[in-house]
Amino acid sequence: MVDDARPATVLGGKHLVLGVTGSIAAYKAVGLLRALRAQGATVSVVMTRGATKFMPPLTFEVLSGHRVVTDLFEAQDAMPHLTMAEEADAVLVAPATANFLAKAALGLADDVLTTMLLNVRCPVIVAPAMDGDMWTHPTVIQHVDTLRARGVVVLDPEVGPLASGRVAQGRLPTEAKILEAAHAAVLSPADWQGQRVLVSAGPTQEPLDPVRFLSNRSSGKMGYAIAEAVRDRGGEVVLVTGPCAVPPPSGVTIVPVNTASEMADALSHHFSSCTVLIMAAAVADFRPRVTAVEKLKKQGKSEMELVLEATPDILAMLSARRTSQVVVGFAAETEDLLSHAKDKLKGKGLDLIVANDVKQAGGGFGSDDNAAVILSATGEQRVCGLMAKRQLADEILNAVRDLCLMAPRGASLVE
Ligand code: CTP
Repeated sequence: MVDDARPATVLGGKHLVLGVTGSIAAYKAVGLLRALRAQGATVSVVMTRGATKFMPPLTFEVLSGHRVVTDLFEAQDAMPHLTMAEEADAVLVAPATANFLAKAALGLADDVLTTMLLNVRCPVIVAPAMDGDMWTHPTVIQHVDTLRARGVVVLDPEVGPLASGRVAQGRLPTEAKILEAAHAAVLSPADWQGQRVLVSAGPTQEPLDPVRFLSNRSSGKMGYAIAEAVRDRGGEVVLVTGPCAVPPPSGVTIVPVNTASEMADALSHHFSSCTVLIMAAAVADFRPRVTAVEKLKKQGKSEMELVLEATPDILAMLSARRTSQVVVGFAAETEDLLSHAKDKLKGKGLDLIVANDVKQAGGGFGSDDNAAVILSATGEQRVCGLMAKRQLADEILNAVRDLCLMAPRGASLVE
């Protein structure tokens, strides 16, 4: 995997709340606001009463393009703390005073900022600034520990000259460090950068005649979630998709197909230029041997026999043809999940298989959630309980990254 090289507008589409509290370092929040905006974020600023003594709200209002909220009772929105908490991808408090740390640690809610903190469920980053003796005071240390234990990212202040003239630890962390923490909080890791990933999704439709076809219940949601996750993690995606009701993700190359044979052709075409194949499509195993040119007529018949022929096993075919590609399959099962999945892993020569009980309550075809067991050719097993398909997609990518892309691939250990 290569280094992170994200675009300049890395925070595009992200909304941050910038909390400014009453420290002499409040003027530095202006630079931070400008940097966040330059990186594409929209920012709402909340100021405590103390902060307004150091900086006029108007400065932040002009630079953020949003009204600055300073008072719970004077805001235009009756419940600014709720609205902002809902919209935020992250809350950044910079500078944060010792008083703010104490209130946040104790859950006090006597201003907009601390009230909002009790409502947010997004990441919270706190950049303290205070005199050195305050930072090392046992009470402050205790409050910082409480906040960190609760998952709040409290950055360490810098050592340097302080407003008092002394040199100690208490300066606001650098803008670069605060931005880095914001990136870590709101962006997916770019750990798939440099990978070109071929993903298949959805069902195939095998025509009987111009108006009828054989198909299955696949919604395409799992494959689409994988394509989306690869894209978000910096990879390039070619998505070969059967007909689905849900819209495919943006920012990926889409190749629409209908039949198993069209899917085989499209995947074969792109396979050699890709580094990973993830075969989430529910390919029909059989198709009508003959597709009628005209609509089939009843002609008074009381029954009808269809003759089906096997479709190509695309996954097995591509796996046999691979040069250096990592090949990942799915196993859709209704019984003996693990033993069937292991047979497919070995039989199709895969690196990894995602075993999926399609009868499981709350998961499977059509659902937004899924559960799976990820099995590798080298014998590892990761159990993923019922979770959102997008979350499962990230777990699958983590497994491919850890077990196949970073580890040398060896002989199959699966019995
Ligand atoms: N697959 C494929 N081509 C087919 C059938 C399946 O590439 N003609 C792929 C699927 O995309 C999946 C894996 O093979 O990644 C396993 O598919 P699944 O339907 O679970 O199993 P099958 O191999 O079709 O076997 P069975 O129907 O007997 O369970």
